Amino acid sequence: MSQVDRIGISLPPELLHTFDAHIRQHGYDNRSEAIRDIIRDYLVEQQWQDESAPVVGTVTLVYDHHTRQLEATLTDVQHEHHEAIQCTTHVHLDAHNCLEVIVVKGTSAQVRAIADRLIALRGVKHGKVVCTGTGENLT
Ligand code: NI
Repeated sequence: MSQVDRIGISLPPELLHTFDAHIRQHGYDNRSEAIRDIIRDYLVEQQWQDESAPVVGTVTLVYDHHTRQLEATLTDVQHEHHEAIQCTTHVHLDAHNCLEVIVVKGTSAQVRAIADRLIALRGVKHGKVVCTGTGENLT
């Protein structure tokens, strides 16, 4: 951080007390860093609201690899969107279950559509997309 602007915020004491307790619990040393993270999170969230904004998402899937056709379909969907799929990590959790984390980069609408399609596949036990930004416009 090369330069900072200082601002003052007025808050009800109870709100500030709750906030301080919360950020302490999450390991923040000071309010400034916690507030910076909250602002960045808000900005990334806004980015995701804009369907044409460039974003990055990680799609986490847990599935039973014995489910008929599922692994082939997962691979097909990823090849269909090879320009957006950055990489995939596969973990064999036990004799039946697999974890797959797929990094998807594209417009917000595109990443959401690919994530929805993967998560909705029959045999996926749990799926979740974590939405983040490309780091641009965030300091
Ligand atoms: Ni596996």
